[in-house]
This record gives sequence, structure tokens and C-alpha cells, in this order.
Amino acid sequence: MNQFQGSHILSVNQLDLDAIQTIFTVAQKMTPYALREKRTKVLDGAILGNLFFEPSTRTRVSFGCAFNLLGGRVAETVGMASSSLSKGESLYDTARVLSSYSDVIAMRHPESYSVREFAEGSRVPVINGGDGANEHPTQALLDLFTIQKELHSKGLGIDGMHIAMVGDLKYGRTVHSLSRLLCMYKNISFTLISPAELAMPDYVIADIENAGHKITITDQLEGNLDQADILYLTRIQEERFPSQEEADKYRGKFRLNSAIYTKNCKSNTVIMHPLPRDSRLQANELDNDLNNHPNLAIFRQADNGLLIRMALFALTLGVDNQLEKYECPVNWYSRKADR
Ligand code: NCD
Repeated sequence: MNQFQGSHILSVNQLDLDAIQTIFTVAQKMTPYALREKRTKVLDGAILGNLFFEPSTRTRVSFGCAFNLLGGRVAETVGMASSSLSKGESLYDTARVLSSYSDVIAMRHPESYSVREFAEGSRVPVINGGDGANEHPTQALLDLFTIQKELHSKGLGIDGMHIAMVGDLKYGRTVHSLSRLLCMYKNISFTLISPAELAMPDYVIADIENAGHKITITDQLEGNLDQADILYLTRIQEERFPSQEEADKYRGKFRLNSAIYTKNCKSNTVIMHPLPRDSRLQANELDNDLNNHPNLAIFRQADNGLLIRMALFALTLGVDNQLEKYECPVNWYSRKADR
């Protein structure tokens, strides 16, 4: 039995390097299924409860498709207003009931720690798809998986790397979770670039410092990117601000485009963003003129999300060693293989 079978995945704090390696090994095994080179029906008959009480495109659809790619079916609830939570039902009651309808649940909710509270009422594994400004563990895993692959292709490793995180580091849950995962590695340099009001929370900074990593904190993008192996951009999380006007103050403060990249970064700096990028004129935090740049990893990141989520389903449901047993051919024409 693997260590994840029957367990919730709520926080990156429950993982260690061995656990991460296990997830990455299974994720790698998912590649031919994600590319439609072959199929597996290992989860035929299983149901995913995909509960998204906050907007999402990638995370929600990739959780659903990851489950479909393993042969399972998806039951989806989207939005607070259309669920009984809007009638005052507790997360505990919702979880008690919905967990008897499904075999595993993926959940996103606007409040910090809500997914943990939900998991207490659930009789099946719950995977955190983002709880408010707190955590986004599956995004952090796919980010780390991407960082490892991208650096490896350049002959580099995670130990000793330099990462610049840019934007809304206060409300951006992806950078909170990713920073904590990186704390498990050695000798990392962090450059944290944000307006002072949107700085990385003290508890994350403390984790980074306690892990012995180096931190530079600044509110200037240009002049602070020349050492970065990874440049991780984030969106202003406007939905977590007290008002739109408040969020507008910070929109467009940091922008990366081809000219700024070429002037400020090493030629092999990898560009990452959890997406969605805010492409509206007043923000345009990551310009389309970098779309074809070989170091732009944002779409590879999203592709890797499928692999990581497939791996987490296979592990929590204990079928990671049965993928081949339930394989079958792909009957339709598929372009995916030449991606
Ligand atoms: C992120 C999120 O929801 O936290 N998106 C994602 O899941 N890929 C980042 C964001 O919304 O800006």
C-alpha cells in the first residue's frame, strides 16, 4: 500500500522529499496516457466529486480530465450560489453527504482552511484545489515538477537555484505553497518582488529563513532579475482585496515583456506563471510577445498539472501499480502525440 492511499492532500506541509519523489515518479508514468498514446481504465466506475466554490478554469478542468484519463467519471459543482452552502449548510454536512456519492473529492473554496474543515466531514480523500489565500498544494507540486524538468534540461538542479517571485505575494496562494516546498531543498536564493503592501506573509518568510535560504526583498522588478534561474510571475489576486479600487492601485506595477526580459535576465531564465495571466491592457503582466520564447514554461506548467493530478488520484485511490493492467488502445485520431 502506498503512503497516500485513503489520505487527504490538504497542505504541502504534509509532504517530505520522499513523498514528492513518489508523486513525481507516478506523474512521469502518466505521460503516455496524457498524450493519448494509450489509455488506461484503471478508475472505471469511480467518481470524482469536483467541487469548485471559486472561479477556476485550469485547475477544475485538469482535475476532471485527469480523472477521465484514468477511466473515471466526474460529478461537478461550480459556484457557491448554486450549492446548499448558500442556504447555510455547514462544510461538514456537505462533506458527509457528498463523500458518500464519490470516491475522491477535489475542492476549491474562497476561505482559508475551509478545505481542511470540509475534509473532517469527508469519508473519502479530499484534495485541496486552493483554499483562499492559504494554499494550493497541487499547483505547487506541478510548479516544482516543472522547475525540476526545466532546470534539468539546462543541466541545473533545484539545490542552489535562484528564484524570483513577482507580484501579489500576499494573497497569492501558489507562491505560499511553492516556497514551502522549496524549503525542503538546499541553498536556494529567493528574490521576492512585490509592492510593500503585498509582501510575502511573515510566516512564509520565517519558513524560508529557518530552512537557511537566502532572501532579498524589494519592490523593484528591473535590476533584480539578473541572477534568477526561475522567474515566477503572479496575478494581482483582485478577488481577495477589500475593493476593486484597492486592487487597481497595484495592477500593471510589474510587467514582463520581451525587451524587459532580454535586458534584465540571463539568457536561460525560465519564465513561469500559474495562470491565468491578466492580459488586460491596464495589467498585461506577461506580454504576448514572449509567447514563442523557448524559456516561457507557462503552458508546459499547465500540461504538467494534468500529470500531477493523475498521479495524486492514482496514489490516493491506491491504483498507481495497476495502470498497465487496465491499458487499452486509443481508437481515435490524436494529434497530442506530436506536441
Ligand atoms: C492560481 C490560483 O487559483 O490560485 N491559479 C491556478 O490555480 N492556476 C493563481 C491565480 O488565480 O492567479
